[in-house]
Amino acid sequence: MKIVVTGGAGYIGSHMTALLAERGHEVVVVDDLSGGHRDAVAPGAKLVVAKTSDPAMADACRGADAVIHFAGRIQVGESVVEPKKYWHDNFVESLAALDAARAAKTPAFVFSSTAAVYGNPDTTPIAEEHPLRPINPYGETKLAFERALAGYGRAYGVRWAALRYFNAAGAFGGLRERHAPETHLIPLALAAVRGGAPLRLFGADWPTPDGTCVRDYVHVRDLALAHLATVERLRAGVEIGAVNVGSGHGASVRDVIAAVERATKTRVPVVESPRREGDPAVLVASVEKAERVLDWSPANDLEAIVASVA
Ligand code: UFG
Repeated sequence: MKIVVTGGAGYIGSHMTALLAERGHEVVVVDDLSGGHRDAVAPGAKLVVAKTSDPAMADACRGADAVIHFAGRIQVGESVVEPKKYWHDNFVESLAALDAARAAKTPAFVFSSTAAVYGNPDTTPIAEEHPLRPINPYGETKLAFERALAGYGRAYGVRWAALRYFNAAGAFGGLRERHAPETHLIPLALAAVRGGAPLRLFGADWPTPDGTCVRDYVHVRDLALAHLATVERLRAGVEIGAVNVGSGHGASVRDVIAAVERATKTRVPVVESPRREGDPAVLVASVEKAERVLDWSPANDLEAIVASVA
């Protein structure tokens, strides 16, 4: 297949590109390199340095079998203080990507959505039917674009899916997570072990079994495989819509710290700090729909995730 990967120089997009290249697919990465890294793009893939609203995106889509759209901004805190960046880059630029795919009659469009569309969940594990009540512009922009996709699907017959990621983590193929600034727990815990700043543990007084937040960590390779399964199903005419991609299991911040300590045989220096604003106590996916519709299930647990980056 020929697949266009927007944001293919970023963390998840570069792993997706590596998996597609490994499987022998032709990949065109469209990335403006605002957050991504040129050297993260698999050698076999073509890199087009452009925004999705640039004419180069329309050219890239010509003859493509699918567009997998990762490009976007990902920092919840920044979205609160600079919503314009998020509405523009996550919504306006996404609509441009979708219009380019539609103009080229691309048969499948897969979007990087997020667990942030649920806000503070009422129930756990969270199923896709859970009310959608994002609590920050990051989640709002992702949800708005899911709705644009649904409308394009109904009116224009666009075949789409929105994968709602929980906590992507881990690495493969010599790639790694390289965000600037880095805000994610596992890379920060590893940096602390390697002599960086001690890990700030955001809240030890949450209403959870050990007092720390519970998240659902999914290996980036499993995540990439879920996208590939999605593309194959969409091309076969299966209706997918929005689907959670997680592991279905919760791990607390202290569980993650313990896993990092086991993998590195080193204590993680930790400073107990106040809660981080906007963090829900527990976010764990129901992956029943992904298992049923995509015939996918994650192969890697938290130990394997940490081992892949330690
Ligand atoms: N945490 C710490 N210390 C840190 C970093 C994180 O204690 O230095 C805690 C957080 O409070 C949270 C957990 O570790 O409880 C995981 O935090 P991450 O920042 O790694 O991940 P989030 O769950 O906040 O973020 C995930 C995705 C984001 C996405 C967000 C939307 O990784 O990209 O969900 O809800 F924006």
